Amino acid sequence: MFINFWYAALRTGQLADQPVKVRMLGQNFVLFRDTAGKAHCLSNICVHRGGSLAGGKVKGDRVECPYHGWQFDGAGQCTRIPSLGAAAKIPARARVDAYPVEERYGLVHVFLGDLPEAERPTIMPIPEYGQPGWHAQVDEYLNTADYRRTIENGLDPAHNEFVHTTHGFSGKEGDSRVPDLNVEERPWGCGFITTYYSPPLQDAKMKAAAGRQGDAVVTAGTFHHGPTCMTTYINPGPGISIHQNVYKTPVDATTVRTFLVQTRTFLLGTENDARFSERNVFVRGQDQVVLSALEPFFTPETNNHELLMPSDRGVARYREFLQQWESRGWRIDEAALARDGDRVARAIPSPARREQPKGWVLDTVPVLAATEQRSRQCLDSTA
Ligand code: FES
Ligand SMILES: [Fe+2]
Repeated sequence: MFINFWYAALRTGQLADQPVKVRMLGQNFVLFRDTAGKAHCLSNICVHRGGSLAGGKVKGDRVECPYHGWQFDGAGQCTRIPSLGAAAKIPARARVDAYPVEERYGLVHVFLGDLPEAERPTIMPIPEYGQPGWHAQVDEYLNTADYRRTIENGLDPAHNEFVHTTHGFSGKEGDSRVPDLNVEERPWGCGFITTYYSPPLQDAKMKAAAGRQGDAVVTAGTFHHGPTCMTTYINPGPGISIHQNVYKTPVDATTVRTFLVQTRTFLLGTENDARFSERNVFVRGQDQVVLSALEPFFTPETNNHELLMPSDRGVARYREFLQQWESRGWRIDEAALARDGDRVARAIPSPARREQPKGWVLDTVPVLAATEQRSRQCLDSTA
């Protein structure tokens, strides 16, 4: 798992007048809205004696710990320690990490890391969101999976033929050669658009909307953005498109929460959302059967013990991106963290720690040491 990327914590509607606890990257966070409705995200661990802030209440612009009533503002600063009395001076160390928050595309995104604003990766964009002629719907799932294996699955054009009855022939067509992939770079990732020979659509309404009856050659492809996000572009028929914009948030190393913001140019009304949700669940279920049985469970640390093919070029490039982000010192040292067990509370480093490295009660999560200068070609393309 990686710090220094944006992660979707909640749908905007899930954050109202009470604090909400969200687990991301193996740590707990509290999200709340202030009196102006602005969303905030803090480390959930009260630095007094470990209370869970999300179990408390929102008091004005602050969240109040349920244990002894300390209050923290949206910047993570403690503003009230009731046991010291009303006129008390608050110690400088009475603060928790606070993380940048942005609400976009119907989701509350949180930047989990300490990079200054100018150096941060972007939230994966959805340029068509809110544009005329496009409809958006949000679905949410929770799975046991390594998020990397699921992104790799999205970057894998060869599996459709065998895993998905809706867009493959289960190998019965004889020649299922994947065209040479033109893997293109984008800021913070890579991907490709390719062609698929696809069976007839099964849903009558979809068939009518797509304007085709039988088999067809369709264009589709996937680009990842950072370690956990990707967009799959599908053109099921002439002049119509679906974009599956997927924001994955690792709850921990083996559990992933997925927010799917689907945008489409046909069957625009919300009355069609259930039909697409149903299909998404069906297709995801087909993937999950295969993904849940992969060995090893986690994406391997090298490619030496898998036999990658030209159709895996997107997967291979994604793994290079992961290595390069690791070389920047952004990868959490999960083995070291596991050794802490329940004996040490930690925090994901927040931007304030860059300005004031000292005076924090909690230590940060361990990361694998940075190993490289930031001059590699791939990193330059993302800067
Ligand atoms: S543990 Fe939060 S106020 Fe004491
Ligand atoms: Fe799939």
